[in-house]
Amino acid sequence: MKRICVIGAGYVGLTTAACLADLGNRVACVDINEEKIAMLQEGRLPIFEPGLEEIVRRNMKASRLSFTTSYEEGINGLPAEFVFIAVGTPEGVDGEADLRYVRMAAERIGEVMDHPLIIVNKSTVPVGTGDWVADIVRSRQRQPIPFWVVSNPEFLREGSAVYDFMNPDRIVLGSLDREAAEKVAQLYLPLRSTIMITDLRTAEMIKYASNAFLATKISFINEIANICEALGADVKEVAAGMGYDKRIGRAFLDAGVGWGGSCFPKDVKALIHMAVVHGCHPQLLQAVVEINRDQRRRVVWKLKEILEDLRGMVIGLLGLAFKPNTDDIREAPALEIAGLLLREGAVVRAYDPVAMPNAARVLPQVIMCADPYELAEGADALVVVTDWNEFKHLDLPRIKQLMRRPVIIDGRNIYEPEMMRELGFIYRGIGRGY
Ligand code: NAD
Ligand code: UGA
Repeated sequence: MKRICVIGAGYVGLTTAACLADLGNRVACVDINEEKIAMLQEGRLPIFEPGLEEIVRRNMKASRLSFTTSYEEGINGLPAEFVFIAVGTPEGVDGEADLRYVRMAAERIGEVMDHPLIIVNKSTVPVGTGDWVADIVRSRQRQPIPFWVVSNPEFLREGSAVYDFMNPDRIVLGSLDREAAEKVAQLYLPLRSTIMITDLRTAEMIKYASNAFLATKISFINEIANICEALGADVKEVAAGMGYDKRIGRAFLDAGVGWGGSCFPKDVKALIHMAVVHGCHPQLLQAVVEINRDQRRRVVWKLKEILEDLRGMVIGLLGLAFKPNTDDIREAPALEIAGLLLREGAVVRAYDPVAMPNAARVLPQVIMCADPYELAEGADALVVVTDWNEFKHLDLPRIKQLMRRPVIIDGRNIYEPEMMRELGFIYRGIGRGY
């Protein structure tokens, strides 16, 4: 049993805190957002993440997990041997990562720590941030107390955060001090995963390179999808055929409306920014971003191809979240698609099983519907934007009957073109060679 403080109660911080508690440790989770902490203290989750609430409640009940807004309580109360930083690192000016929250966390850690600490950085941060964090902590200490900084990038996905945390493909640890990294490695031993220990900067780079590679795979298959459309091939079959090659792998070859979310967009841009500032020319990464931008626009082009003028057309968006099983709408393709449609003069409606409250705040002009059938009523077209399972099992004949025109743009290839045409839809998937 170790004593751990986790700074930040977002997707990563909360998952890390709850899972580390579940592994038998005592964990205090600190967040500056009083509303979030108040909810968590009542055992309620501020985010939608399958399976997480149960783990949070179980560990609170066992007194292994607590929540506070006080750094003093979180760090000195236990007292913690490890402090994990898991605050946000959003996109800043010119794509550079905005490190203000990391800075605030480092400052507060330095100010309050009254005993030696291992500071573990889980936030995705530019290469060199570990050294910068160490400088900040040192500059804020009232008296010199030893501490060590370890980079421990997180690779979990939203929607399967708990599973990913508990079943990682690898744990990456980077530090200038091998002993400190090995102490962090001990925390992860119950997960029986590969643990790689490297230096601080390399660990930070592994995170960016991994996200950039996954985004590249998706942009690659989206480009192939567009070529498939021109040449009459089916990208789903192409991806399957490629995926049998172990060197390629089938994962992340689903063509669609492009990648979104709180990480790929900001991380690829942050990597490009780092590269450019240091005199490199990241041509591939720039193309990856451009392909992704165009991929969202293609949905609107497809609609215009069929409906011609979108003015006054009622378009229903099936899905708002950037991916299924999350209520996160940060950089969700749906936001951009809705914006483009509104600019074309369309009436935009939407339905999402969990993301509507978040989306309503940023898309006040979009009409939110109670279910997919209300969405379909009188619609001139439906666009599948998020591949929620429930959309795969819709009563399609009923949907068709409700629509004014039976047009479906399947931005996630969840339906089979032949079946949709048999049902009488005017159907367009992505890269499905019609
Ligand atoms: P988030 O926005 O969901 O949560 C961040 C939390 O930090 C918020 O609750 C905020 O109130 C809190 N916070 C901000 N400043 C603080 C401070 N000074 N002290 C205490 N709390 C503070 O962010 P997230 O999605 O959990 O991402 C966190 C980091 O992890 C980012 O760097 C992100 O790139 C990385 N990451 C995210 C994911 C993911 O799937 N979301 C996966 C891997 C890595
Ligand atoms: C991604 C990575 O998968 C995680 O390893 C990483 O830890 C995380 O970013 C992060 O750094 O935050 P996440 O953004 O939660 O996780 O979700 P993904 O499942 O990777 O999906 C990202 C986007 O790509 C979604 O919009 C999804 O719809 C899209 N996608 C994914 C495709 O269009 N095609 C695919 O084949 C896979």
